[in-house]
Amino acid sequence: MFQFTALPPLSLYIHFPWCVRKCPYCDFNSHAVRGELPEEQYIDALLTDLEQDLPRVWGRPVRSIFLGGGTPSLFSPEAIERLLDGVRARVVLLPESEVTLEANPGTVETERFRGYRAAGVNRLSIGVQSFQPEQLKKLGRIHGRDEALAAAQAARAAGFDNFNLDLMFGLPQQTPDEALADLRTALALHPAHLSLYQLTLEPNTLFHAHPPELPDDDVLAAMQDALQTELAGAGFAQYEVSAYARGGRRCRHNLNYWQFGDYLGIGAGAHAKITHATGITRLWKVKQPRDFLAKVGTPGILGGEQHLRNEDVAFEFMLNALRLTEGFPATLFTERTGLPLASLEPALAQAGARGLVEHSAGIICATTLGRRFLNDLIGLFLPESTAPKVDGRHQH
Ligand SMILES: C[S@@+](CC[C@H](N)C(=O)[O-])C[C@H]1O[C@@H](n2cnc3c(N)ncnc32)[C@H](O)[C@@H]1O
Ligand code: SF4
Repeated sequence: MFQFTALPPLSLYIHFPWCVRKCPYCDFNSHAVRGELPEEQYIDALLTDLEQDLPRVWGRPVRSIFLGGGTPSLFSPEAIERLLDGVRARVVLLPESEVTLEANPGTVETERFRGYRAAGVNRLSIGVQSFQPEQLKKLGRIHGRDEALAAAQAARAAGFDNFNLDLMFGLPQQTPDEALADLRTALALHPAHLSLYQLTLEPNTLFHAHPPELPDDDVLAAMQDALQTELAGAGFAQYEVSAYARGGRRCRHNLNYWQFGDYLGIGAGAHAKITHATGITRLWKVKQPRDFLAKVGTPGILGGEQHLRNEDVAFEFMLNALRLTEGFPATLFTERTGLPLASLEPALAQAGARGLVEHSAGIICATTLGRRFLNDLIGLFLPESTAPKVDGRHQH
């Protein structure tokens, strides 16, 4: 039986499903834009979608917004302003809320960034991936090294000191030295935050069908060690599997996912998680942009809805919270799941006995070993009837 003492913090995710071109490694809900971008129509649809969702969160303030994609920076500053004005007119956005927009270096310059800032965006996340021209080509990116450098400089010139750079490592035939060179170039741009993702071959991508030659496990381990040492030396503290921040600039929106907070998700294919008196519901919107535009404002907008069972809730909490480098207070488990800590036993005891988890001074945390074998660790918390499918990645 669920028992909640308080509802968790609430965030808002807004999805933009178009890109200039589809990258061959990417399994996000993103589609190459054909013809003209339906900018006006999509912003109207997002606001209608939000309005339809409001009864699910009556009276609850929003504390972060993430405009993710796809490529939100394809949308003009005027469109983003109309969207954020519309959001603020419909929900209470707490003062000091973090508002992030994802940008592709091939689609931006200082004026555009200035416009986003004036619209209320206060954090940028720039998808750089690599600074090596050869790698950018292999990754099918629409920008080169110079545009990647220029994007970070433009962000700063437009007044954004709080920006993230996305880098990928473990790229085709990449050596540890090459990965380190990418990281050093990124650090020289003084981002507040870095996300370092190991390239994975995702089903339904071109790379999955025609896999490039990737570094082997030994090279990857050496690469990861080199990157972590460099990051620590530069004052970046790791706080999640792929996330590093300087001076307390952790991403509040993503932290809310990992701490099993609530979020609305509007836009094509966006996911939401909502806590209510009787449990936790996940829901998602129809995925194809065309369907989304046609069905918004009707019940058909829902791609699906799932009320979580107790055992799913416990697993999903662990899937997220064990990714956090500092772990989580044991009390957070009960607060966010409405379940007693005892429902984590015997998996917690088993993980402890194998040296994968530590539980001391009220904090539960993956050990260094547990972080290295995170999938095995998380697998211990799987409900028995569920097939082992472990993926803690989120809509960004
Ligand atoms: C939705 S994209 C955001 C930004 C923007 N669309 C761009 O690519 O410039 C989020 C990030 O996920 C990462 N990513 C996407 N596919 C990946 C994969 N197969 N393996 C590892 N990281 C991936 C990339 O670093 C990418 O920047
Ligand atoms: S990685 Fe980014 S730019 Fe490339 S297809 Fe995916 S969402 Fe679009």
